[in-house]
Amino acid sequence: MGPPGAGKGTQAQRLGKEFGMVHLSSGEIFREAKAVGSELGRKLARYMDAGELVPDEIVVEIMADAVGCVDGGLLLDGFPRTVVQAEVLDAQLSKMGKPLDAVVVMTADTDVIAARITGRRACPRCGRGYHVKFMLPVREGFCDDCDTVELIQRSDDSEALVRQRLEAYYVQTQPVVDYYRGRESLLKIEVDGNREADDVAGEVILALGSLARD
Ligand code: AP5
Repeated sequence: MGPPGAGKGTQAQRLGKEFGMVHLSSGEIFREAKAVGSELGRKLARYMDAGELVPDEIVVEIMADAVGCVDGGLLLDGFPRTVVQAEVLDAQLSKMGKPLDAVVVMTADTDVIAARITGRRACPRCGRGYHVKFMLPVREGFCDDCDTVELIQRSDDSEALVRQRLEAYYVQTQPVVDYYRGRESLLKIEVDGNREADDVAGEVILALGSLARD
């Protein structure tokens, strides 16, 4: 969990590889649905392109399907984002006999967030993330893994929408952090996401490693 640009996607891609977990990003799933251009995609676009959260009833339906398809370790990125979503996820995981083990909360300063979001680029084929200053691809403008695929900028990555997305985070998602904070059985990891991505990854991998050893 964390505000937009804190580095959730960047770290989740690394952690998924490190621990062999399936990385499910609600934002990625929604962007794929948008790209198809279906009625659902157009509905999602209305909220995403305005920097607002997608309504809970749409989110829980899509995410319940995605979570239900995963066998083994699961790493959630961007979901849950409201207390209602967290409660629905709890009920589903409990039915699946798959308890939540850990919550990673990343923080980042507003100026760091703005610089990261406006310079972010991504591969439309594999989803790998880059940055025009902080995470350059080997060949400018192209994905390292997909070679001839040109990197794109997300439609909601404008300076104007960053403020709106931050407000959505602090008003609607911060209560989810508090919801998990009180739960004794959960490993809670709070990291300063302002630092180099390698330093952040090292700290989270070390903390999560204690779970992997149990
Ligand atoms: P989503 O795709 O989840 O976007 P977000 O939460 O706004 O987060 P970001 O993807 O912007 O940031 P990130 O923290 O993943 O940062 P990243 O690692 O990419 O959601 C998009 C929209 O979908 C929402 O606004 C909403 O409308 C909807 N939505 C999704 N889930 C929903 C839900 N559950 N409920 C309701 N609506 C939902 O890093 C950013 C950039 O910085 C990259 O370029 C990266 O290379 C760079 N970077 C990362 N870490 C570092 C570092 N340590 N140092 C330097 N650069 C770094």
